[in-house]
Amino acid sequence: MHPQHALNQQMDYVHPAPVRVWHWINASGFLFLILTGFQIRYAESINLMTLSHAINLHNYVGFVVIANYFLWLSYYLGSGKIKLYIPDLRRVVGLAIRQARYYGFDFFLGRPNPHTMTAENKFNALQQQAYLVIMLVLLPAQMISGLFLWKVKGYEEYINLLGGIKVIDTIHVLLFFFFTSFLFIHCYLATLGHTPLAHFKAMFTGYENHH
Ligand code: HEM
Repeated sequence: MHPQHALNQQMDYVHPAPVRVWHWINASGFLFLILTGFQIRYAESINLMTLSHAINLHNYVGFVVIANYFLWLSYYLGSGKIKLYIPDLRRVVGLAIRQARYYGFDFFLGRPNPHTMTAENKFNALQQQAYLVIMLVLLPAQMISGLFLWKVKGYEEYINLLGGIKVIDTIHVLLFFFFTSFLFIHCYLATLGHTPLAHFKAMFTGYENHH
């Protein structure tokens, strides 16, 4: 390698093994849940598999995603690294505006990303807000509403407390639309590293390559 090139490159270990394992189980689980979810919701228009297969697979994968969530939670709470997800309230507005301007404008002019990913400051202000709400509010809401829909009779009391089965079903389906759209945005933004595949590779190897 050219010495100047070696100087310009710095590998930073940003994704420890538990995060990588959690992330890829979660991502593949979501793809299955979305496919089977579409089949369950639009059974009359799509024919990927029988309805009963779709329901069984959806339930089974749902439990894998729930169990896997506890891997994420125990890793981040146990290590104290959950603070990576918490925005700095004094600076969050300015940083979020700069980051949004980068995604929407500066990136296309070839200007540098205002945020550098390091192990201690892994997420930019927009990622922190999005990931925090997703991991601590939306994903738990999706898992709990899914559990209630799985055993309607068993959880009748809680379901009624929250406004009835229609409310729970609406929450589950709205979040299903949210997560489906999130996946597209998330994957697009993940291509904006120093090469289109850089962030994807880092989620497999653990190392982000800085130029
Ligand atoms: C095909 C599906 C997916 C792909 C290809 C993908 C790709 C990636 C990549 C490349 C990163 C690292 C760069 C970054 O932080 O943006 C990442 C991080 C992350 N993704 Fe995904 N993702 C997928 C699905 C999901 C889903 C379904 C969720 C949540 C419901 C999710 C939540 C996250 C979170 C929270 C992080 C930060 C993890 C951490 O470092 O603590 N991803 N994803």
